[in-house]
Amino acid sequence: MTTPAKSMDAIMALCKRRGFVYQASDIYGGINGFWDYGPLGAQLKKNLRDAWWQDMIMNPAWGRKGPDGERVRCVPLETCIIQHPKVWEASGHVAGFNDPMVDDKETKQRFRADQLSGLFAGGSDVIMPRCTVVASTTGEAVEQIASDKSLRKTIGIRNLGQVNAEAGLVEADFGQGMQAWSVRVVPVPLLRENAADIPSPFTGKKGSLTEPRQFNLMFFSYTGAVFNEESKVFLRPETAQGIFIHFKNVVDSTRVKVPFGIGNTGRSFRNEVTPRNFTFRSREFEQAELEFFCHPDESQDWYRFWRDFRMEWWKSIGLAGDNLVLREHGKDELSHYSIGTSDVEYRFPFTAPGFGELEGIAHRGCFDLTQHQEHSRVKLDYFDQERGDLLPNGSRKGERYIPHCIEPAAGLDRGALALICEAYTVDPSRPSPELLKFHPRVAPIKAAVFPLVNKDGMPEVAERLYDELFARFGRTGLIETDPKQSIGKRYARMDEAGCPFCFTIDGETLTAQTVTVRDRDTGAQERIALDKVTGYLAERLV
Ligand code: GAP
Repeated sequence: MTTPAKSMDAIMALCKRRGFVYQASDIYGGINGFWDYGPLGAQLKKNLRDAWWQDMIMNPAWGRKGPDGERVRCVPLETCIIQHPKVWEASGHVAGFNDPMVDDKETKQRFRADQLSGLFAGGSDVIMPRCTVVASTTGEAVEQIASDKSLRKTIGIRNLGQVNAEAGLVEADFGQGMQAWSVRVVPVPLLRENAADIPSPFTGKKGSLTEPRQFNLMFFSYTGAVFNEESKVFLRPETAQGIFIHFKNVVDSTRVKVPFGIGNTGRSFRNEVTPRNFTFRSREFEQAELEFFCHPDESQDWYRFWRDFRMEWWKSIGLAGDNLVLREHGKDELSHYSIGTSDVEYRFPFTAPGFGELEGIAHRGCFDLTQHQEHSRVKLDYFDQERGDLLPNGSRKGERYIPHCIEPAAGLDRGALALICEAYTVDPSRPSPELLKFHPRVAPIKAAVFPLVNKDGMPEVAERLYDELFARFGRTGLIETDPKQSIGKRYARMDEAGCPFCFTIDGETLTAQTVTVRDRDTGAQERIALDKVTGYLAERLV
């Protein structure tokens, strides 16, 4: 069963209105591909990061035993955004982190060749002058046209009629009335051979496009006062490499033994050519990556272990249902180093009916440690005392090997966006129909305490309950109290912010020491004892 598409415009409007996400540098007109988080968004992301940290590092895989029958062990790490440039040579990013780019020689505009789509007249092979950068599949391309106003402007669409993503059809008016167009993706080789015959997406003129050229996605800067090739440094495009380069340090400075994992969270930077779909494809974003090191013989088991756990984990924080899928990559999709990769994918409103990647779980073999060993000339193998032949004294001879690595690599911005999209609900039967049904674990506001009226001793009781809840739960999220406005309006504000529980102090509280608890999702209310509120919340906020 497919879920009806939610309006991305409405979700983005709510995000801005309630302080989840703002365009970066908003008052200066924004900067493309960069997003900031407002008070509720920052707390939502922190809750997501904390949940990842808790379940991947502090108590990895919820305390389960791994395929070796032992408890899974992981340690944290925090590494710099700027590292020695050789790190990125060894990792392959300097040579290979490229997108094929095409330039318009006349307008100096640039787009990704593998995402060049064209609008084709009635399914014929004539390429319209108004082809443009949209997305990598036809369905996505149509969705993109439907959801992205500025893209429609770039293409030159004045009015849009029916869109049918599955059939790859759009009805569009380019100034000569409504016509049906089919959207096709132009493959890179075709573009390479026919660059001169393909009209520029910006001007419609033939002959002004260059052949596709490789464009490196890494941002760079310079260290020190002299700007030259020697002082050039890169902003990391992933947090993973910080882990590989410290593998030896972690082994030498702690008591970890293979198999074990190292987790690292933080900002990564990619000069995405076509940042789009709200925070989904940004130029600055946050990753949460675990590199799990294991013996090569056990690596397939660990790959399956992490792949399955990561799917379960996303479900546990609210992405249940058929909007979440685990997709195993085909052999042709695998990165050069990867022995196997699966993606946890979410059906975002802008990808529906398709899915977008939330996290990749890759079996990276011994690629990264081997690369860094070769480039740094520092031995990064591991001596495993518990392996090798059995000796007469009962101990093992030991075995030296380069561990294999399983990498669950999640994006926290995509995660937060998926949580928002999943939680977003329109219930027309409510006076204020929009609400966010966050899982209590990630909800930025955990609870609200309201005096029914701002008099008769109710505000004082509310204040005391607020203090009690704040002391107990203030570290996990926000606790709110608000004595003003009608109670209906206060509930509606909390529903829109995704607060799961509201406690109201009323006349009966003063006489019978009970409060009402209102459930956000159903609007149902029940009475519980005032002194049971903390216990009630504790049971439900895990
Ligand atoms: N170390 C492996 C690695 O970085 P990746 O698939 O390129 O793998 C991992 O990135 C995750 O980071 C993705 O699944 C996605 O959630 C997030 N991510 C990647 N590029 C992103 C971008 N431009 N904007 C937002 N999130 C991004």
